[in-house]
Amino acid sequence: MNITIVGTGYVGLVSGACFADMGNQVTCVDVDAAKIERLRAGDIPIYEPGLAAVVERGIKLGLLSFTTDLPQAMTQSSIYFIAVGTPPGEDGSADLKYVLAVAREIGQNLNEYAVIVDKSTVPVGTADKVREAIQAELDLRGVDIPFDVVSNPEFLKEGAAVSDFMKPDRIIIGTDSERAGAVMGELYQDFSRNHDKVMYMGVRDAEMTKYAANAMLATKISFMNEIANLCDALDVDVEEVRHGIGSDSRIGYSFIYPGCGYGGSCFPKDVQALVRMADNVKFDAKLLNAVEERNIAQKHVLASKVTRHLGELNGKTIAVWGLAFKPGTDDMREAPSIVLINSLLAAGATVKVHDPEAMTTSKREFAPKFVEEGQLIYCDHHFDATEDADALVLVTEWKQYRQPDFDKLKSQLRASVIIDGRNIYNPEKLKQMGFVYEGIGRR
Ligand code: UDX
Repeated sequence: MNITIVGTGYVGLVSGACFADMGNQVTCVDVDAAKIERLRAGDIPIYEPGLAAVVERGIKLGLLSFTTDLPQAMTQSSIYFIAVGTPPGEDGSADLKYVLAVAREIGQNLNEYAVIVDKSTVPVGTADKVREAIQAELDLRGVDIPFDVVSNPEFLKEGAAVSDFMKPDRIIIGTDSERAGAVMGELYQDFSRNHDKVMYMGVRDAEMTKYAANAMLATKISFMNEIANLCDALDVDVEEVRHGIGSDSRIGYSFIYPGCGYGGSCFPKDVQALVRMADNVKFDAKLLNAVEERNIAQKHVLASKVTRHLGELNGKTIAVWGLAFKPGTDDMREAPSIVLINSLLAAGATVKVHDPEAMTTSKREFAPKFVEEGQLIYCDHHFDATEDADALVLVTEWKQYRQPDFDKLKSQLRASVIIDGRNIYNPEKLKQMGFVYEGIGRR
């Protein structure tokens, strides 16, 4: 099939490349000319395992192309995905200006029946606004062209986006049009060959499903972080508790890992946007507010643990392993490392950091003066960061940090303090080796 995808951010690029990999003819459109030039050359602006190879293959086979010219791309297809950003507005609600600008441009150039697909995460009711924006342009032109607006939210995890797209748990298609449903069903038929993954529902139901899924996962994490903090106070090991409750099939093991707070481009933004949606209809979303509040507080837990062990931080050196909001990505959006590092720097500590992928992306999160004045030091190797540091704080659980040479760490760390923000180390072993170890909610 011929598809146009507007927006070559994370979602648009992964979707476009994967649709092309399934044999579809895909044109990716973006207003950023420099980015389009880079993409044409196969240069991927984000780090996502496996994505570069899929993009390269698509370009080579002539199935994937990039342009800034939406009207031109529209002449070649009749399915348009809107995958542009929905940044949080000042009040935390999703800002639809980019989505609606694309809708208007589609309306200005539509010449035959088309399916317009909302792929961006957008508040309930957005499909109606997109429909109105397109219809208003058609009315201005005085033409009568049929079209349908469909909601088809994505559930991609960063670091596993290509495999999530290729092997989805489910494909949600929100539409009240049989015609559009049939087009979408055909487009996705190869992704659900063995099991029927496609679920049809109303447009608003699909829009809410996306928010509810992310809010549910964020709730599990905040709940577990709350339990972990309580375990800290009550002298209980949360890891025992996690195993104990995860074995209940109604609860399950996934997304109950306590830590230093969730980050990324989705959970914080989507929980906030859902709260704003509730506010707009005068619904008091008590639980969602608490989920967000717990998460904001959780990002401060590591810094207070460091202070508790080291006291005055002025003149101390802290090593930080991991900057990205999770392993497998260079994404720094809402990363707990930002809150930790900024508070260590503000307290006068020298901070030595390492991350396998996010060193470059992280630089814009910290005031340049800290690097210039040598208070924030980027290290090429994680053991360079721990050299002569007082304490190590593990923030992101990259594989290469999981089994470090603890003898070497012991000889490097002046105060032998390890703060484990992801509970990946064995407290007993470390205590026997003479470390002062503290995880999140571990006795
Ligand atoms: C998430 C959703 O999983 C995905 O379906 C949606 O499309 C976008 O948002 P992503 O943001 O890539 O994906 O990351 P995810 O792997 O879900 O992790 C989010 C955050 O939660 C990370 O900061 C992670 O460290 C944290 N987390 C996750 C925990 O603290 N504990 C857990 O048990 C799981």
